[in-house]
Amino acid sequence: MAKKTIRDIDVKGKKVLVRVDFNVPIKKGVITDDNRIVGAIPTIKYIVENGGRAILFSHLGRVETLEDKKNASLEIVAAKLSELINLPVRFVPFTRGTELEEAINELKDGEILMFENTRFEDLNEKGKLESKNNSELGKYWASLGDCFVNDAFGTAHRAHASNVGVASNIKEKAVGFLLEKEIKFIGDTLENPKHPLVAVLGGAKVSDKISVIENLLKVADKVLIGGGMVFTFLKAQGLEIGTSLCELDKVALAQELIAKGGDKLELGLDCVTGTSFSNDTVATVRSFNEIPKDEMGLDIGPKTIAKFSKIIDGAHSVIWNGPLGVFEFDKFENGTKQIALAIAALNGRAVTIVGGGDSGAAVAKFNLEDKFSHVSTGGGASLEYLEGKVLPGISCIDDK
Ligand code: 3PG
Repeated sequence: MAKKTIRDIDVKGKKVLVRVDFNVPIKKGVITDDNRIVGAIPTIKYIVENGGRAILFSHLGRVETLEDKKNASLEIVAAKLSELINLPVRFVPFTRGTELEEAINELKDGEILMFENTRFEDLNEKGKLESKNNSELGKYWASLGDCFVNDAFGTAHRAHASNVGVASNIKEKAVGFLLEKEIKFIGDTLENPKHPLVAVLGGAKVSDKISVIENLLKVADKVLIGGGMVFTFLKAQGLEIGTSLCELDKVALAQELIAKGGDKLELGLDCVTGTSFSNDTVATVRSFNEIPKDEMGLDIGPKTIAKFSKIIDGAHSVIWNGPLGVFEFDKFENGTKQIALAIAALNGRAVTIVGGGDSGAAVAKFNLEDKFSHVSTGGGASLEYLEGKVLPGISCIDDK
């Protein structure tokens, strides 16, 4: 069911509360990936251009101690947004109180304000007010505006005071353009895919992806498995996997998934190994049935790349979540890169979706961001969405 969107709200002259996810990586005071900020700009621009007053808020990091707080101010994010959107953004270094309320009341139509990290409220003596969705806090933040737009897909799997809490205390609410886009691509593809749907799943641990594999086996025509987790599946088939990653307590489950998946589940044919988890180790291509005891698989091999690429080439939709190898090491990036290129080659022929997190980082490393229908801004959120879960940050907004 489609959600109400910002287009359904007349924002003119209104104080529009906008929950964004500006939980961006920051190293030595520099934002190293601004995708989430860029992703929120269409919604902010829409409000400004239609005479609304945008009041933005987000969490940043996990704020559990005063030490955490020192490095978690949103001030530099507000400055970055101002630079990217080319408009002034007034930053208010509080999450509540007179100064914040006055600043909001002084806002004029078309102006933007951002207030401080919502998780500073997690240090409240009464407990983690933001993360635990304290009802008073949600009510207070809701009282600061006339309507609410949730555009924070990255936080949609969390029921916080700043998303679910605000939504429960305000009448007029909608999703922003970014959240709408995430629902359109991920949600609609899961619900009503263009077949054949190929799911490409990687990552280190089976335990992180069990529910995703189970859910995608229900809707996809093929589920291709790569990354460290494939070795738990090989172990389940009785193969020697050397010193490769393996979750022994998940071997039985991998066996069940292999049985359940049948022809749908593809594990590939070969891998690239090394003797240590390092970019300096010697890389050797090994068939799955000839991995020596002292080697570990660090990437998918050329036969697997060819097999997976052929399957991908016939797809009308692709969902990719998780790297196929240790792409952070240049020596073992090829599998992830070739599969990214195979999906990118479908440009215009198929719906191609990259789950956020590590696969998003891989796409950025290979400069392929523009070659997919959609690169999700959610890490944990896209994973839970792919598991088929109802995300509280989406369900708190009314259907159209
Ligand atoms: C994310 O980056 O996945 C979201 O912003 C949520 O952050 P969290 O895992 O700290 O709740």
